[in-house]
Amino acid sequence: MSNIVVVGVQWGDEGKGKIVDLLTESADVVARYQGGHNAGHTVMIRNEKFILHVIPSGILHKGKTCIIGNGVVIDPKSLIEEIEGLKSRKIAIGKNLYISGRAHVIMPYHTMLDGKNEQAKGNKKIGTTGRGIGPAYVDKMSRVGFRMIDLLDSRGFKEKLKANLSDVNFLLEKKYHNTRLRPERVYSEYMRYADYLSPFITDAVVLVNNLIDKGKDVLFEGAQGTLLDIDHGTYPYVTSSSASAGGVCTGLGVSPKKIDGIVGVMKAYTTRVGGGPFPTELTDKLGEDIRLKGGEYGATTGRPRRCGWLDFVSLKHAIRINGFTSIALTKLDVLDEVDKLKVCTAYTYEDPYKRCECSKKGVACKFTDMPQDANVLEACKPVYKELPGWKTNTQGVKKLKDLPKQARAYIDYISESLNVNIDIISTGQRRDEVVVLKNPFK
Ligand code: GDP
Ligand code: IMO
Ligand code: MG
Repeated sequence: MSNIVVVGVQWGDEGKGKIVDLLTESADVVARYQGGHNAGHTVMIRNEKFILHVIPSGILHKGKTCIIGNGVVIDPKSLIEEIEGLKSRKIAIGKNLYISGRAHVIMPYHTMLDGKNEQAKGNKKIGTTGRGIGPAYVDKMSRVGFRMIDLLDSRGFKEKLKANLSDVNFLLEKKYHNTRLRPERVYSEYMRYADYLSPFITDAVVLVNNLIDKGKDVLFEGAQGTLLDIDHGTYPYVTSSSASAGGVCTGLGVSPKKIDGIVGVMKAYTTRVGGGPFPTELTDKLGEDIRLKGGEYGATTGRPRRCGWLDFVSLKHAIRINGFTSIALTKLDVLDEVDKLKVCTAYTYEDPYKRCECSKKGVACKFTDMPQDANVLEACKPVYKELPGWKTNTQGVKKLKDLPKQARAYIDYISESLNVNIDIISTGQRRDEVVVLKNPFK
């Protein structure tokens, strides 16, 4: 019996959906602990593509219990659409899905404010998914948010909605010259959602801990990635939740004592969607080629993902924060046609405004640890080490010995330089396109 976390190591979209789907085979329960429908987790089963947003990717396996934890923010309309979409594709949803009553609800004004806030930021915009995630977490922290359990108390919901809307409408009208939201309309819309979702709402802290105590194997599914974590990411160009492994404890009410393993999902190169610093970004034809070969377009928004080389400075940061017990390296096959590979081993930095964090202020300096300031990171230049490419098709390879020698050298170089165990190597989109050296559950 073990409980394993799956966490994104970079800026999201590392292939967590594929790895969760693969590991679900060995688990009894799959639980999401943070984020919302900003996430898009792709699972390819044979040639059928599923994209999960809030529902744990484990739902695609029969007989697994799926839990949406208190740390998640839920847009009821989108969740209902997700459930109905899966049902229409013959995925059974009933007593296999539970939603924490403590999870916060995304309200229509959160989505509106997300858009307005972004517009107001001009060229400093974060490039959010526009799903209302940030404003929903703001309300949670301000202690004015609605929780799923509030949907079950229609009178209380109505009263609180009136109070919340009086503030929101002030903002919408006075600051954004928008029309007011009518309480009756929002109320009746959300009460319809309440009717639909109420059978799924439960005390997920009790549920998940009872399952753990009974010896069930639990997979904790992270969304986004460590570099998008509200505390440990490239703030302010981050999401608003705790995407790293620590989020499991707060986002599901599970003690750190009950976590047995932490699998970091690491893409064999780097991508990022939205704004923010990205020192190893490739803005040339090679970046474009990787985007095309890797299908690097957002699973939620369809936006093209920015592509670049692997960055050891940020990876070291992610490894330190999460303490990965193993790594799943994904999308190795996307690099098949690349002549020479580069990995960034350090950053150099010279700032005319003398705002460097190191002790030698104002002098050109070198970072091997991630700077805390996004402006500093933006000005960092990568120092690269070059490695030979393999120029061989690796798609679908299932055994380590069948990988070309240069590909194995690339994997060994990552593993030795970062002192991590690469136990899973993904070589294609499909479930079976993978080399499993060690199953974290076994
Ligand atoms: P997630 O958000 O971390 O679950 O990742 P996404 O689903 O947003 O993006 C990852 C994309 O890469 C999806 O289209 C996956 O089907 C695809 N993918 C995952 N692993 C591999 C792999 O090893 N090779 C290739 N070519 N594609 C992969
Ligand atoms: P998965 O789980 C990649 C990014 C957005 C934006 C920033 C803030 O599929 O890996 P938000 O809407 O969360 O306020 O946007 O975070 N972002 C993601 N990038 N993958 C994701 O999820 C993301 N979820 C949010 O692009 O830069
Ligand atoms: Mg994604």
